[in-house]
Amino acid sequence: MKKLLLSVALMAACFAAATSSVPVYLDEQRSIEERVEDALSRMTTEEKIAMLHAQSKFSSAGVARLGIPEIWTTDGPHGIRPEVLWDKWKQAGWTNDSCVAFPALTCLAATWNPDMALLYGKSIGEEARYRKKDILLGPGVNIYRTPLNGRNFEYMGEDPCLASRIVVPYVKGVQSNGVAACVKHYALNNQEINRHTTNAIVDDRALYEIYLPAFKAAVRDGGAWAIMGSYNLYKDQHACHNRYLLNDILKGEWGFDGVVVSDWGGAHDTDQAIANGLDMEFGTWTDGLSSGTGNAYDNYHLAMPYLRLIKEGKVGTKELDDKVRRILRLAFRTNMNTRRPFGSLCSPEHIAAARRIGEEGIVLLKNDRNLLPIDTDRVKRIAVIGENALKMMTVGGGSSSLKAKYELSPLEGIRKRFGDKSEIVYARGYVGDTSGEYNGVVTGQNLNDGRTPDELLAEAVEAAGKADVVVFVGGLNKAAHQDCEDSDRAGLELPYGQDRVIAALARTNKNLVVVNISGNAVAMPWVREVPAIIQAWYLGTECGNALASVLSGDVNPSGKLPMTFPAALSDVGAHSAGDYPGTPRNDGSGITDCKYSEGIFVGYRWTDRNDLKPLFPFGHGLSYTTFRYGKPAVSSDRLTADGTITIRVPVSNTGDRTGAEVVQLYLKDVESSLPRPVKELKDFRKVTIEPGRTAEVEFEITPDQLMFFDDGKHEWVAEAGEFVALIGSSSSDIKGTVKFKLLSGTSKPAGR
Ligand code: GLC
Repeated sequence: MKKLLLSVALMAACFAAATSSVPVYLDEQRSIEERVEDALSRMTTEEKIAMLHAQSKFSSAGVARLGIPEIWTTDGPHGIRPEVLWDKWKQAGWTNDSCVAFPALTCLAATWNPDMALLYGKSIGEEARYRKKDILLGPGVNIYRTPLNGRNFEYMGEDPCLASRIVVPYVKGVQSNGVAACVKHYALNNQEINRHTTNAIVDDRALYEIYLPAFKAAVRDGGAWAIMGSYNLYKDQHACHNRYLLNDILKGEWGFDGVVVSDWGGAHDTDQAIANGLDMEFGTWTDGLSSGTGNAYDNYHLAMPYLRLIKEGKVGTKELDDKVRRILRLAFRTNMNTRRPFGSLCSPEHIAAARRIGEEGIVLLKNDRNLLPIDTDRVKRIAVIGENALKMMTVGGGSSSLKAKYELSPLEGIRKRFGDKSEIVYARGYVGDTSGEYNGVVTGQNLNDGRTPDELLAEAVEAAGKADVVVFVGGLNKAAHQDCEDSDRAGLELPYGQDRVIAALARTNKNLVVVNISGNAVAMPWVREVPAIIQAWYLGTECGNALASVLSGDVNPSGKLPMTFPAALSDVGAHSAGDYPGTPRNDGSGITDCKYSEGIFVGYRWTDRNDLKPLFPFGHGLSYTTFRYGKPAVSSDRLTADGTITIRVPVSNTGDRTGAEVVQLYLKDVESSLPRPVKELKDFRKVTIEPGRTAEVEFEITPDQLMFFDDGKHEWVAEAGEFVALIGSSSSDIKGTVKFKLLSGTSKPAGR
C-alpha cells in the first residue's frame, strides 16, 4: 500500500513537473531534495567537477547554463573581510566594503550568554548577506589546549559544553540570513606551529569528549550547512580529506548533509580528496598555497585530475554526485533561495550589537578596595598608559583581519566617557608592534617611537605619579607570535617589557587598573601588587566604548573566563603530559607527531586532577555587586535511566546595583570504570538580578549529562552509581553541592 501511495505521489509530482513551466530545480514550491535531484540530472560531468573547486580566491563555479550562481565565501568569524582581487590576496580597493568588527569569539564565549551568540550570528550574517556572500568562513570552535596557540582568540575556550552552547545560536543566527556558517577548523587544529604538517595523536575519549562536541553541536543542533577541514593531520591523513573525521564521524555518525570545504590549500591527495569526504577544494594556487599560475585552479585535486580519472574509467561518479548534491543543497539554502533577507552593513544595530557583546564579555578578574568603577566625581586626573590603549587591533592576526568602518580605541573611549569631568593624560609606557598593515589594509597609525625603554618608563611613571587613577592598557596584539594565525606564542609572559612597566606603575600609584587585551591567558607576576585587573579581549569596532562602559560602571561587568589562566605553563596538560608542539618524524616526511597525552584532562580538568591552583580559574569573573548562593536542592536523589531530576538554587543580589551572574553546574562521577575529571561543566545560566532580589535558578539533569565516551565499546555510557552536582560561580568557587544516584546504567551510540 505504502509503495502504491508513493508511486502515485511521484507520478503526481512528475505530472505537475511536466505541466508546470518552471523546471523543478527552480521551483521553490518543491522540496530542496527534489530540486537537488532535478538539477543534478541536468548537469554534465564537467559542470559537476567545476563546482567542486575554487575558481578564484574565494569563489567556486556555478552552472551558468542552468542559472545556478557561483558560490562566494568570505572570512571571517569576527567580521566580513574586505574584497580581494579575483585571484590575488591583494585588496580590490573597494570603498564600500568596510565592516563592523565584532568582538573576537573568546569575548563572545566570555559572555556565557547564548542570546549574545544569536545576536552575533544574526548581525554578522546580515553583513555577509549584504556583501552577497553565501558562506561565512566561521565560527571557529577549536578547543583551547594550550595558551600558546596563536588562533585561540578566534575560538570559544577550553570547555566543550560552553563552546557547544555558544556555537549553536551563532550558526542559527548566521543561517537565518540564508548564508551558510562554515564551522572550523575540523578537527584538532589546536596549535598554529607546523599547522600543515602536524599529525594529532589523540585517544577516542579525548576526541569525542573534548575536541568534537562543539562541532557536533554545530551540526546536530545548529544545523550548520558547511564545515571547514583543518590543515593538520589525524591518523596520518590530512583533515581536509580524512576518512575517519569526515566519512565515519561527520557524515556517518552525525549525518551531516552539508558541504565539507577544505581550508585554503588543505587538500594534498587526489584519491583521498575524492574518497574521503571533501566536497569543495579552496586555496591559492596549484598546490593551494604556494606559487602557481594565473589559472591554477584547474590543477586542483578535485579539478582536472579528478575529471581525468573519471574519463579514464578509473573512478566512478558516485562520490562526484554526492559532493554535487551537497553543494546544490547549500545553493538552494543560500543563493538560490529568493526569499532570504537582504542583509545590512555597518548598521546602527550592528554597532550596538558589537558594543553590547563586548560589554558583556569583558571579565573583571580582580577589584580590591572596589577601586572600580572609576568614580568620576572623585577622580580628577586619569593616566592612561600602554600601547594597547591606542593600537588598532582589527588589522592583522591572519585571515580574521578586517577593514573596519572604524575602531574606537580604549584611549578614545576613555576620553569620550571621562573627559568632561577628568583630565586624561596618556603615556606610551612601552613600544611593542609598530606595524599596521595586513593584506593591503592599513591602520593609518604611525606607532613609531624612537625613545628608549627607560625614557618611555620614566614618562609613564611621571604621569602615574600625578594621577588619581592609572589605567594601564597592555597585553598582546595581532603580530606574529602573539595572537596571530600561522604562529604560536613562545611563552605565557607579556611581551615588550610590560611586566617591568606594570610593576613600576604599581609602586608609583596604588590606584592602578590593568586592562589586559589578549585572546589568550598571560602570566601576571605583578598580580598581587595590582588592585584591579580586567580581561578585555579584542573588542573590535566598539572597543573604546565597551571598555569605558565597564570602567565607569555604566555597565556592570558579567563576563566569565572561557579558559583557565594557569599559574605556569607547566600547569597545562599539553605542556606537562602532552607533547606540544610535537616531535618531528625522522623519515623525511616532514610530519610532526603531536601526542595529546593529557587526554581528556584539558584546562580545569587538568588543574583539578593535579590539585593545581590557577592564576584565575575557568568560569571566573567578578561583578560590581555581590551575590549570595543559597543551598541547592534536588527534586529527587534517585535518577532513572530515562528520567530527569531538577536542581534548584536560590541566588541573591546582596549588593546595591543590578548585576548578572553566571551560575555554573558541574557534575562529578564519584566512581567510574574509566578515569574521569574531578568535575565537568554540564550547564549554566546567566541571570540578571536586581539588588535585594533572589532568582531561583533551575537545572534539569538527565542521564545524557552523566555520560562519558567508552572508547572500548565506542559508545556513550552512564554508569549507575553516585554523582555529585556542584553549583559554582567559577570552576574553583563552588557554592554548594548535592548528591544523587543514577539507579541503572544506560548508553547510546557514538553519533547520538
Ligand atoms: C586560512 C585559515 C582559514 C581561512 C582561510 C581563508 O588559512 O586557516 O581559517 O578561512 O584560510 O582565508
